[in-house]
Amino acid sequence: MAKEPVRVLVTGAAGQIGYALVPMVARGAMLGLNQPVILHMLDIPPAAEALNGVKMELVDAAFPLLKGIVATTNVVEACTGVNIAVMVGGFPRKEGMERKDVMSKNVSIYKSQASALEKHAAPNCKVLVVANPANTNALILKEFAPSIPERNITCLTRLDHNRALGQISERLNVHVGDVKNVIIWGNHSSTQYPDVNHASVKTSSGEKPVRELVGNDEWLKGEFITTVQQRGAAIIKARKLSSALSAASSACDHIRDWVLGTPEGSWVSMGVYSDGSYNVPTGLIYSFPITCKNGEWSIVKGLSIDDFSRKKLDLTAEELSEEKSLAYSCLS
Ligand code: NAD
Ligand code: LMR
Repeated sequence: MAKEPVRVLVTGAAGQIGYALVPMVARGAMLGLNQPVILHMLDIPPAAEALNGVKMELVDAAFPLLKGIVATTNVVEACTGVNIAVMVGGFPRKEGMERKDVMSKNVSIYKSQASALEKHAAPNCKVLVVANPANTNALILKEFAPSIPERNITCLTRLDHNRALGQISERLNVHVGDVKNVIIWGNHSSTQYPDVNHASVKTSSGEKPVRELVGNDEWLKGEFITTVQQRGAAIIKARKLSSALSAASSACDHIRDWVLGTPEGSWVSMGVYSDGSYNVPTGLIYSFPITCKNGEWSIVKGLSIDDFSRKKLDLTAEELSEEKSLAYSCLS
């Protein structure tokens, strides 16, 4: 029997991530090649004509899995009945701006869209916040949508996770698909901590620790970390626009693994509401190592944290606490 379509909301759909993301969703890259979808696309009135252009292109591409399109500037219409909400809409960071600079513009958007999702989305709607400051926008969304279970509100750090896999694969000249279990801890910002202490590579003689194969602690504790932390800024410098195709692809990875599960023996990174694991304060949306099964995520517990890592975990938590206070001061 044919599957019922899943309704996927993409906000900011006329923007550059939206333009890369909606065809991926319509092709099955997010929910699978046998899952029909109905796309809900939201943008603001100045972008209405461009949004209609995206709709026209989706029709022209004749995606067999795409069973309907709602393209609108009305937030209630956009949110009604959605099962998955990918929140990309907002004001992007430009060259020279820190994520904090875009805070006041974005947290008020997330406060009002929280209410629309709470009232109109399907029960158990899964929410992924992409727009920056992603962790804090997700926290604001959670706090102003109290009836949405906190487990259902997450933010994107999968792009950082994928960037870390990419850097290790380039360094070791191995396939990126053979590298696993890097971790992004904390904020989707330059204080994030890309951690390879538990990461491994599949080789012809079994799985080997990344640390052993790289054999250069100075690089792993220095350039590797800063390259991943600063990759967003490097892309902005090169393109004069923030990352889009990699962000869209990573958003698909995040939802796909959340809905369909992570492979046995491997984890991903997701920004989720902290339960105090690894002594990360509760009350923050923080990126942890995560496994997913039956549509639910769990934090990987019991990993050893050395002194170097501890300091990094705490530093990024401190930044998130500061962002949280700043967000509330913008809203008051
Ligand atoms: P963009 O400016 O090209 O697109 C943003 C879109 O959002 C625009 O079409 C704009 O009209 C729309 N928008 C603005 N306010 C809105 C609202 N209230 N409701 C609905 N739509 C609204 O930006 P982009 O390059 O697509 O980036 C989008 C966001 O994603 C930015 O905040 C960017 O910093 C962030 N980002 C996050 C990650 C991550 O890994 N978490 C990666 C890349 C970019
Ligand atoms: C990224 O990581 O590419 C984005 O978050 C863009 C940014 O604001 O750095």
